[in-house]
Amino acid sequence: MDSSPKPSLFVPDPETARGSRIPDYETLYAASVADPESFWGNLAKELHFTKAPRKILDWNPKTFEGRWLVGAEGNICDNALDRHVRDGFGNKVALIWAGDGGEEELFTYGRLLDQTVRFAHILKKLGVGKGDRVTIFLPPTPGQVIAMLACARLGAIHSVVFSGFSQAALRSRLEDFEPKVLVTADCAYRRGKRIPLLETARAARKGLTSVEATVVVPREGPPESLEPGERSLTDLQTEVRFAGPLPSVPVTCDDPLFVLYTSGTTGKPKGVVHVQLGYMLGTYATARTIFDLRDSDVYFCVADPGWITGHSYIVYGPLLNRATVLLSEGTPEYPDAGRHWSLIERHRVSVYYSTPTTIRLQMRFGDSWPAGRDLSPHRSLGSVGEPLNPEAWHWLHRVTGGKLPIMDTWWQTETGMIMVTPLPSTPEKPGSAGRPFPGVVADVVDSSGHTLPSGETGTVVIRTPWPSMFRTVFRDPERYRKYWTEIPGAFFSGDSARRDEDGFFFFLGRVDDVIKVAGHRLGTAEIESALITHPKVAEAAAIGKPDELRGEIIKVFVVLHPHAADTPPAHDEIRKHVRTELGGIAEPHEVDIVISLPKTRSGKIMRRVLKAREMGLPEGDLSTLED
Ligand code: PRX
Repeated sequence: MDSSPKPSLFVPDPETARGSRIPDYETLYAASVADPESFWGNLAKELHFTKAPRKILDWNPKTFEGRWLVGAEGNICDNALDRHVRDGFGNKVALIWAGDGGEEELFTYGRLLDQTVRFAHILKKLGVGKGDRVTIFLPPTPGQVIAMLACARLGAIHSVVFSGFSQAALRSRLEDFEPKVLVTADCAYRRGKRIPLLETARAARKGLTSVEATVVVPREGPPESLEPGERSLTDLQTEVRFAGPLPSVPVTCDDPLFVLYTSGTTGKPKGVVHVQLGYMLGTYATARTIFDLRDSDVYFCVADPGWITGHSYIVYGPLLNRATVLLSEGTPEYPDAGRHWSLIERHRVSVYYSTPTTIRLQMRFGDSWPAGRDLSPHRSLGSVGEPLNPEAWHWLHRVTGGKLPIMDTWWQTETGMIMVTPLPSTPEKPGSAGRPFPGVVADVVDSSGHTLPSGETGTVVIRTPWPSMFRTVFRDPERYRKYWTEIPGAFFSGDSARRDEDGFFFFLGRVDDVIKVAGHRLGTAEIESALITHPKVAEAAAIGKPDELRGEIIKVFVVLHPHAADTPPAHDEIRKHVRTELGGIAEPHEVDIVISLPKTRSGKIMRRVLKAREMGLPEGDLSTLED
């Protein structure tokens, strides 16, 4: 192990900094917040609209609705694909797909556009038009990207559901979203194991009347038999073979692009709604300047398009920038611990956007995996999803040559785009996500919304609107309002942080009942709701317990029904039950069967007491404890 003292400040190479797209952060930041409409408006000019915006921002402080690019008409698919083909880049590689089993496939911008048009024809044939809803339940494959872009092209609204979710989790999302069409695959592969996706989809949609058709994309091959309402993509492709061009449908600043379900503090995931044009501007601008994407780059983001990181920084942001994107289906340890390093070397990746858990896992596997690889094209690194601890920062920095900037990017499903981050030109402090992106007014406040002095820990809020802000919570406008009324007039992120004397943010974790397990966002209430559907469980509480590798792990406490006391369920049975209800990412790591749970007099479970006990910390104010 390297025991030399670790620098607390990394200063980028001056030449790289000068050549980057934001060479002087301080000046640009000051100008951007003094006149955000000019800052964002100038960036919008780099995109294509069939009708130019009349006004850059229309902010309603009463409804907290931020309408960006008012009066404009355009389409994000047109900007992500057609625009580059029109500009003569149809032969540039858009997508490199690396499958779980070592398969690879390349898509140029021309081919990706062609496939997207064909898929859009299919959706149209199935009755999908502007404003219609489509759920996409696919593994991270080109088909998933194509389905998303095809929806966007038609002005339809997609909702991508992570392919690792269980039948019950998919069903609850289908029930809320009520899609007209469901797109799924015969199967998925993970660590060489076949996962029967179609069976999950079938069980999930049983009895749901909204779904008029299910498109089955072959991952392995066309399914052997289809049920009523199911159509094989292969057959549908034959039917639209000669359908010809299908121009993208121009949409306005209020038209949704997608609904992505994410965990909150209640048992039910919320559908975060993003609109096409504003989201396009935010993801375009951030992908462009933070990763400083160039035509010569190969960009690899390790997320799954089923999460917001994949939406914004595998699909939309990079394609809007005409990048070459590497999409990997696998996990970082399959077929071996060198998976990412070999993909990076083989495809000459120059920008690698990863996660703290992945980096810590690679660190555990050891230096020998990156050592000896030619990582010379590498220009920058990124991280997202949870705090990147200094040890992991230093390790990644060292094994990639000790010169590359690491963008520890902080943002959320709701923000749609990166909000706080270093830039290739700014200094970095390991453990810090740097300062706000230009145009973003992020603050650390106390419970009444007053800005805290440096060094003090508080809640992170965003004080002014930003282009890719979410527009509402699907079917739940009250839940949207809550984000803006907790701290009046500012967006409440649910995260805590402190800022140092230079204005650098150090994120510490969530202040609400949301936990982050290996970067996956889960609500404690969601896990508890799943637990109490077990016939033997009467009450349950879930907490996030700090973990060196995954940031947090899930620990649950359950109280059994009196009738179950003599035959308590095995811990494994409880864990499996949650897995079945929610999916593998929500499976508890530790289970305790207890006699009772600490509660307030009004009956609310005091999770903070459980957590303090678990960690051997003071239990704090117990005056509201019932017993
Ligand atoms: O707690 C923060 C954490 O991830 C949360 C958002 O989760 P989600 O909506 O699933 O989006 C994840 C990918 C954008 C935040 O509230 N988080 C995200 N990035 C960071 C982070 N925490 C610390 N540092 C980060 N860079």
